[in-house]
Amino acid sequence: MNVLITGGATGIGKAIAREFRRERDARIIITGRTDATLRAAAEELDIDFAVCDHADPAQISALAQTLPGDLDVIVNNAGGNIGFGRGTRAGLESVRDEWLDNYIANVLTAVLTFAELGPRLTNGGTVINIGSIAAESGAGSYGSAKAAVSSWTIGLAKSLGQRGITANVISPGFIADTEFFKGQLTAERERDLISATQNNRRGSPDDIAALALFLASPGAAHITGQTLHVNGGTFTTR
Ligand SMILES: NC(=O)c1ccc[n+]([C@@H]2O[C@H](COP(=O)([O-])OP(=O)(O)OC[C@H]3O[C@@H](n4cnc5c(N)ncnc54)[C@H](OP(=O)(O)O)[C@@H]3O)[C@@H](O)[C@H]2O)c1
Repeated sequence: MNVLITGGATGIGKAIAREFRRERDARIIITGRTDATLRAAAEELDIDFAVCDHADPAQISALAQTLPGDLDVIVNNAGGNIGFGRGTRAGLESVRDEWLDNYIANVLTAVLTFAELGPRLTNGGTVINIGSIAAESGAGSYGSAKAAVSSWTIGLAKSLGQRGITANVISPGFIADTEFFKGQLTAERERDLISATQNNRRGSPDDIAALALFLASPGAAHITGQTLHVNGGTFTTR
């Protein structure tokens, strides 16, 4: 099984890589923009890595040259809220920049990666896109971008279904122990996020990784075009 995980050196992506690593025959390739972080994670997990900015078409095309001809699993995990750490800036141009940047960081990274590498998916394979609970909570440009990921994924499920390929979104709630908050998560905000869950705990990257592995298993072959929420009940569905 060949598995590509974008943004796989830290947080949720790294946990997904570790989970797939337990499959004995899996070849796992993680990507990201930072060589040192990737190298350390790849060494720790004994997997492959490649430096690639998934917002850059040329870098994705170069990555494609180094990847196996067949891919069984593509996990589009690279992303994040580009608003964190930017500070507040005034003016319409900054509004435009923030919306475009979050769209590029969370939608186009996945769309471009799939455009280049989707044709390599084997029959029965799977695409897993990482969304966010922010899509449900009115979270501005970041939440809107993650909502777009779910909408795009429905089209993927339609176009790939005849080949037995599934496409789904895993939508995490608050997940601790990642680089997502860029050190800006206050103790008070964390308490609020935990108390919004029904089980009164932080989410962990492993909570997401377990579902990713299941979605790539034969038992999940009839699950496609879905957004699957993993948030301790902070956001509930019918
Ligand atoms: N943590 C949460 O509470 C939470 C909740 C909902 C959704 N999510 C989503 O979960 C996903 C993983 O986030 P995380 O929480 O694990 O945070 P993280 O530790 O910051 O992981 C994001 C990873 O993506 C990489 N990355 C970002 N932009 C990239 C790009 N253009 N090209 C290649 N790699 C890129 C980062 O590495 P480099 O910077 O080195 O490239 C990093 O390794 C994200 O899509 C995020 O939006 C997180």
